[in-house]
Amino acid sequence: MNTIDLKDTYLKFFESKGHKIIPSAPIIPENDPTCLFNTAGMQPLVPYLKGEPHPEGKRLADVQKCFRTNDLDSIGDSTHHTFFEMLGNWSLGDYFKKESISWSFEFLTKHLNIPVEKLAVSVFKGNDIVPADNESAEIWKSLGIKEEKIAFLNDEHNWWPNMELTGPCGPDTEIFYWRSKNEVPEKFDPEDENWVEIWNNVFMQYNHEENGKFTPLKNKNVDTGLGVERVTAILEGFTDNYKSSVWSDVIKKIENITGLSYDDEKNTRSMRIIADHIRAIVMIAGDDAGIKPSNTDQGYILRRLIRRMIRYAKKINIDINSEWEQDLAILIINKYSKYYKELDRNKKDILEMLKSEKIKFNRTLEHGLKEFDKVVKNLSEDVINKDIAFRLYDTFGFPIELTEELAAELNIKVDTEGFKQKFAEHQEKSRQGATGKFKGGLASTGEIETKYHTATHLLNAALKQVLGPHVHQKGSNITAERMRFDFSHPAKMTDEEKQRTEDLVNEYIKMAIPVERLEMKKEDALKLGAEAMFIDKYGDIVTVYKIGQVSLELCGGPHVKNTSELGHFKIKKEEASSAGVRRIKAILE
Ligand code: ALA
Repeated sequence: MNTIDLKDTYLKFFESKGHKIIPSAPIIPENDPTCLFNTAGMQPLVPYLKGEPHPEGKRLADVQKCFRTNDLDSIGDSTHHTFFEMLGNWSLGDYFKKESISWSFEFLTKHLNIPVEKLAVSVFKGNDIVPADNESAEIWKSLGIKEEKIAFLNDEHNWWPNMELTGPCGPDTEIFYWRSKNEVPEKFDPEDENWVEIWNNVFMQYNHEENGKFTPLKNKNVDTGLGVERVTAILEGFTDNYKSSVWSDVIKKIENITGLSYDDEKNTRSMRIIADHIRAIVMIAGDDAGIKPSNTDQGYILRRLIRRMIRYAKKINIDINSEWEQDLAILIINKYSKYYKELDRNKKDILEMLKSEKIKFNRTLEHGLKEFDKVVKNLSEDVINKDIAFRLYDTFGFPIELTEELAAELNIKVDTEGFKQKFAEHQEKSRQGATGKFKGGLASTGEIETKYHTATHLLNAALKQVLGPHVHQKGSNITAERMRFDFSHPAKMTDEEKQRTEDLVNEYIKMAIPVERLEMKKEDALKLGAEAMFIDKYGDIVTVYKIGQVSLELCGGPHVKNTSELGHFKIKKEEASSAGVRRIKAILE
């Protein structure tokens, strides 16, 4: 069975069970500026899971285009992908556990012909909020899953998305497949990596509110997700996803272009990266949102994918000026336009964009090479230090591997470790600053959240001034709309104390104080009197944020560069949180 069959078989099956097949939502979410990409099949359906009627009815199924950047650096191994397709079926207040589980079982065993012995499941063990899901376990048993193949697991495993993110959520039951050639063990051990999760059925019946409460949703819903790439590889008997029919034609094309073999391990990783990235590039650029390479948001990710792909193409000696990327893009467009008609519609734009971005990057590379020659001439010793390596990377798009290769030819060393450290710091900053947005609209750390983060430090400092040094942070929660800050203080704040605190924070903002990021030994930070909420959480070397003489806190960031960026601070509410702990809700306006 190949990938097209898996998708078709799935959709036909759920159609036969009364589901309406809906088209994939765009990969770029509509009407959700906090979120760059759709990361799960359910994401475009959030309003309906919350109770709005869906125009197509209460039973829906689809194949959804998804994209996740959190795995970007893992791309090149045998199982991770940036872009992937998720099959899903939903009940919006219609059927619930019995039908959902029975149909999943029927589809796997009767339509994909997976022997029941090779399946195992996990169900929710229960916590303070929701009792153990014995009902699902009983349904599995009635279908022929043996008791030993059912594991009851806690909310870290069987609660989707997790207990922290706000929005629709609930307990789930996950289905696992025994991938190994070895005999299937009698008992299901979720820690054994030969058991691979293939399908997740979430019983979405709660909404996790901003205030931390789990309130029942209007409807009891079902949300399921099954990854096309993984399940196809399993059905076809491969442990390397790229050997499956999802990828084999793309890999073959790359082999043809290069004349090299995928199985030669010198080439495997580069070929996987090129295959993964070209597909993601086509999907992002092919979306009707009209994304172009740029330095922000989706455009930045698109640019990064293209550059990374070119860099790996160079590694396996592809002639960058040939039409290789056009050929690969056309292959992807033809393969996927049956499901995603927009690819055909936007074909010309995708191909032109790709070509011009390629040419541009090639030119940057040339500038970088000139700069490299200059740098080398001016070296005082035979080492390219971390700052130069980072500048070559940051300004000239020079990957460190390229710097290393060029340096090696001249017998010059590169401080790669130093570069990596600098790079990681930079990544961490931009990850926190931007890619919080990828958590799927369920949580985010964008520009506004960053401001609130800095405002939290200022509020902490102001409270100490107004109330006394006994004030310490006990908790914090930030959304794009507001900040919430819990702190130790025994009494309700008076109106005057609140006003003085608010005024003081606004004064700090007006003072336009630079926010500095320092690194030091943990003990030194404590000696300097830095605030820290969970001191044990930090390693020996810590990051400290210093805001002039106002604040010094151990913190991972991100923060704004200057307090003047915050605008105007306003306390909306002061209330009790728990014994001896008060809570302030505040906004920036
Ligand atoms: N929403 C669930 C998932 O993405 C099905 O795994």
